[in-house]
Amino acid sequence: MHRTLKPFLNCLIRGATPRSAALGSIRSESTVVTLIPGDGIGPEISASVQQIFEAAKVPITWEKVDVTPVKGPDGRFSIPQKAIDSILKNRIGLKGPLATPIGKGHRSLNLEIRKVFSLYANIRPCRSVEGYKTLYDDVDIVTIRENTEGEYSGIEHEIVSGVVQSIKLITEPASRRVAEYAFEYAKANGRKTVTAVHKANIMRMSDGLFLQCCRETAEKHPEIKYKEMYLDTVCLNMVQDPSRFDVLVMPNLYGDILSDLCAGLIGGLGITPSGNIGKEGAVFESVHGTAPDIAGQDKANPTALLLSAIMMLRYMKLNQYADNIERACFDVIREGRLLTGDLGGKATCSEFTAEIIKNLK
Ligand code: IPM
Ligand code: MG
Repeated sequence: MHRTLKPFLNCLIRGATPRSAALGSIRSESTVVTLIPGDGIGPEISASVQQIFEAAKVPITWEKVDVTPVKGPDGRFSIPQKAIDSILKNRIGLKGPLATPIGKGHRSLNLEIRKVFSLYANIRPCRSVEGYKTLYDDVDIVTIRENTEGEYSGIEHEIVSGVVQSIKLITEPASRRVAEYAFEYAKANGRKTVTAVHKANIMRMSDGLFLQCCRETAEKHPEIKYKEMYLDTVCLNMVQDPSRFDVLVMPNLYGDILSDLCAGLIGGLGITPSGNIGKEGAVFESVHGTAPDIAGQDKANPTALLLSAIMMLRYMKLNQYADNIERACFDVIREGRLLTGDLGGKATCSEFTAEIIKNLK
């Protein structure tokens, strides 16, 4: 068994109470949350979130961990055990961007975290931000992406020289649980429609199975309207009129691509939050890159990580803190006086952070 999975499975077998279920509304005691600041601009934007949370008196304590990959006995690089143990214990984490080597070196640690903790659903809400003008004013979409398998299963091999094969793995349990999550999410968040996005006309068996699971799940949730659409048609219609879409559920790679497309409609990854949800815990993360060109210069925009941290607070049922911080953040963006470079302003990350703190209630 994977060295890192064992304690996690043990804890499942022991039937530990899911943290989310154990959390009430606002409590006076502090909850420990794992913080992975990440690479490049990661430490700066994490510090910004920490300052804002402290000013808002959010009752959480950060447990900062380093995830610089370490070489295991099998020669493979992976996340240090200490970081894994921290997430296993706390069952909730916030993570900045981690550098991913292209086509060589260690596997993406971003993916490793999702896989090791079986964070099966990736949620990315994309809502138009008032004051940050894009081509569209009325975007309010949520992409829900299967997060553990599909084209990201990492099963690739060379058959003969010059011929490689990559396996898209689709399983019934993983498809069902993400479909179930999509409908539950829609219900819990007052949404009307779930659209399953697929290419089952081409990948008849794999996308066919995914679709079948969505269809059967839809039958159990008649109060939510269910639709099926081809991925290419969704892309076409999305850029024509995003207001036609509500909640979308899809296999891994489609979700990776479509969530970037949706983020582009509202102004990019710098203002788009993301949450990775599992049965026993969750890790919230900004999904932009590490921006090494501006790292350490106090120029980074912390909004995506802050909005992800706000999603985390709602997951923890700390809604009043989430609402306060979110309002302050959107007020500062709407006002437009102190924005970072990517949002068209000249403010530093510290100035933007201080302005959000000033706007807290
Ligand atoms: C994302 C990112 C990751 C992915 C990268 C960093 C491995 O693009 O979270 O969307 O491909 O899933
Ligand atoms: Mg992506």
